[in-house]
Amino acid sequence: MYIDQIQLGNRPLFLAPMEDVSDSPFRQICRRKGADIVYTEFISSEAIIRDSDIALHKMHFEEAERPFGIQIFGGREEAMEGATKVAKANNPDLIDINFGCPVYKIVKKGAGSACLKDLGMMERMAGTVVDAAGDYPVTVKTRLGWDDHTIRIGEVALMLQRIGVKALTVHARTRSQKYKGDARWEYLKKLKNTPGLEIPIIGNGDVTTPELAKKMFDETGVDGVMIGRGAIGNPWIFEHARHYLETGELLPNPTLRERLELCAEQLRLSVAHHGERYGVIIMKKHYGQYLKGVRNGKKLRAAIMEEKEMEPVLELLLNFREEEYFAVA
Ligand SMILES: Cc1cc2nc3c(=O)[nH]c(=O)nc-3n(C[C@H](O)[C@H](O)[C@H](O)COP(=O)(O)O)c2cc1C
Repeated sequence: MYIDQIQLGNRPLFLAPMEDVSDSPFRQICRRKGADIVYTEFISSEAIIRDSDIALHKMHFEEAERPFGIQIFGGREEAMEGATKVAKANNPDLIDINFGCPVYKIVKKGAGSACLKDLGMMERMAGTVVDAAGDYPVTVKTRLGWDDHTIRIGEVALMLQRIGVKALTVHARTRSQKYKGDARWEYLKKLKNTPGLEIPIIGNGDVTTPELAKKMFDETGVDGVMIGRGAIGNPWIFEHARHYLETGELLPNPTLRERLELCAEQLRLSVAHHGERYGVIIMKKHYGQYLKGVRNGKKLRAAIMEEKEMEPVLELLLNFREEEYFAVA
C-alpha cells in the first residue's frame, strides 16, 4: 500500500493517534516493534498558531519514527491553514486531519467530529489544508457518521478523494456511539466497495489481537489496519500481528522480563523527551497495561505511582520478581 509516495508494504499496521499516549517515546517503541507508520496525538491548530510550547513540542519526532504523521484539529479554516504551514516546516511524512474526535468541548468549536454534521464544512476545511500542505500528503481520520441517521462515509470518502486527500482512516463507530458498543466493521466493507473509490482506506476500531487484525483485513478488504488501545502497554501487537498475517502462527506472549525491560526503556525515552518530572508522570498511563495479568503487578504499580523520579521507578521495574514481591514490599 502507498499513501501518495510513502511505501508501506502489504497490509500495513498503523499506530493510532492517542492523546497523551502516542508521544514520541511510545511511537519509537511501536516502530521498533513493527508498526509501519505512526502519528502524533491530535494537536490544536489554535495552539500551534499561537506558538504554544506544548503544541510545538507535540510535533517533535525522531528520524527513527518515519514514516510519521502530524495530526491537527480545529474549527477555523485560517487556524488550520496556519497550523498546516507550521506542521510542514517540521518535515513530517504527512499531515492528518482529525475529523473524528467526539469530545464535546472540541465539537462545540466546530472541530473533530463536528464536520460529520456539515459535510460542506468538512470539504472547505480539508481543501484549505490540502492547499496549504502543497507537496505534503494530507490524510483524514474520521468516524462512520454523526449518528446512525447520518452514515454517509462512502460519500465523504469520494469527496475527500476529489479534493486531494491521499488516504482515509475510519474508526468504525459513529460520534454518538463515542466508544460504546462494538466497532461496526461491516461499514468498512461497504465503504471499500464504493464505486470510484481509489484512495487507501485504513480500518480502525477494536483490533486488540493479531487474529483480529487479520480478521479486519480479511472481512472488510481495508488497505491498512490501525491499532490504538490494543497497543498500549503491548507494542508487541504489531510484530505479532505481522507474523500472524504472514504465517498464520501466533508468537508466544512476551515474558515478564521482556515486558519490564521494554517498559523501562519507554520510561528512559520518556524522560529524555519530556524531562524528568513530566516524563515520569506521563508514563503512568502505560504501567497498568504493561503489568496486566502479572502476579503482584498491581502492588508494583502502586509503588511506582508514588515515585517522582526515574531511577527509583527503574529499580522497582528491573528488580521486580512476581513471587518475591511480598517479601520486598
Ligand atoms: C486515550 C485515547 C486518546 C485518543 N486520542 C485521539 C487523538 O488524539 N486523535 C485521534 O484521531 N483519535 C484519538 N483517539 C481514538 C483512537 O485513535 C482510535 O480511533 C480509537 O481508540 C479506536 O481504535 P482502538 O479500538 O484500536 O483503540 C484516542 C483514543 C484513546 C483511547
